[in-house]
Amino acid sequence: MRVLVVGAGGLVGAALVRAGAPLGWHGLARAGCDVTRAADREAALRAFRPDAVVFAAAFTDVDGTTPACAAVNVEAPAAWSRQVETWFFSSNFVFDGAGPHAPGAPPRPANLYAEQKVTAEAEVLGAGGHVVRVGWVYGPGGRTFASTARARLSCGETVRAIHDVLVQPTHADDVARAMLPLPRGITHLAGREETSWYGYALAVQAQVGLGRVEPVRSAELGLGPRPRDGRLAPAELPGWRERLDRGAAEAARG
Ligand SMILES: NC(=O)c1ccc[n+]([C@@H]2O[C@H](COP(=O)([O-])OP(=O)(O)OC[C@H]3O[C@@H](n4cnc5c(N)ncnc54)[C@H](OP(=O)(O)O)[C@@H]3O)[C@@H](O)[C@H]2O)c1
Repeated sequence: MRVLVVGAGGLVGAALVRAGAPLGWHGLARAGCDVTRAADREAALRAFRPDAVVFAAAFTDVDGTTPACAAVNVEAPAAWSRQVETWFFSSNFVFDGAGPHAPGAPPRPANLYAEQKVTAEAEVLGAGGHVVRVGWVYGPGGRTFASTARARLSCGETVRAIHDVLVQPTHADDVARAMLPLPRGITHLAGREETSWYGYALAVQAQVGLGRVEPVRSAELGLGPRPRDGRLAPAELPGWRERLDRGAAEAARG
């Protein structure tokens, strides 16, 4: 099966290409394919003749999302899914209220980014495509809370971390591995251990032995509206503590 990953320059896209390479998956980053441009789409479909497209491109700055972002977040996945069977990456932010949220639960978007995800999901599913929802993904290459918290703690700095939002930290490589069978319909990919950003940062602090972690409420950081409990169910991917412990053991071995 010929699989093309678009948005391959991002955290999830790059992990998908790493995991899928042995199966012959190809990736195109933004420089090679702007997903909003019909000419780029036609050229990519002609060149690769994919049976499946995994759509990992997006504008991902939640609070910076504007109506114009619909070009990449809604219109592009809709257009690709009308031409080729498409797996679209969506977000746990499509839900609000108390989790965990099952794949069939009704969406209730709390902000514009989430509204765009809900609209795109409907377009892709309507065209016969598939939806993959993830929550907090971290991993190599990405600039995520996990990487910035570790870097700052390692320098002995103080990290302020939200303690009143539940998250399921999920490694991008685990997401990518779970995508290899190309799960059909709506799929939730989440790590099995939940915490808060504060809980995660505390564990990193204990590991690096430097810096300080200060708990803050999400309202104190002036963030836009977000789900307090966007946990996804099922949550079956490896937990974040396993990853941290494994990383520490590998570092100790040198
Ligand atoms: N990471 C998370 O915690 C998380 C949580 C929930 C949902 N998701 C979803 O998972 C998917 C992947 O996210 P991610 O974490 O990998 O985000 P990311 O690291 O920000 O990657 C998104 C990629 O899309 C690219 N892109 C933006 N506009 C494009 C365009 N017009 N054409 C082609 N590529 C374009 C970006 O390129 P530039 O860098 O050049 O802009 C970037 O490489 C997204 O749908 C996101 O909404 C992620």
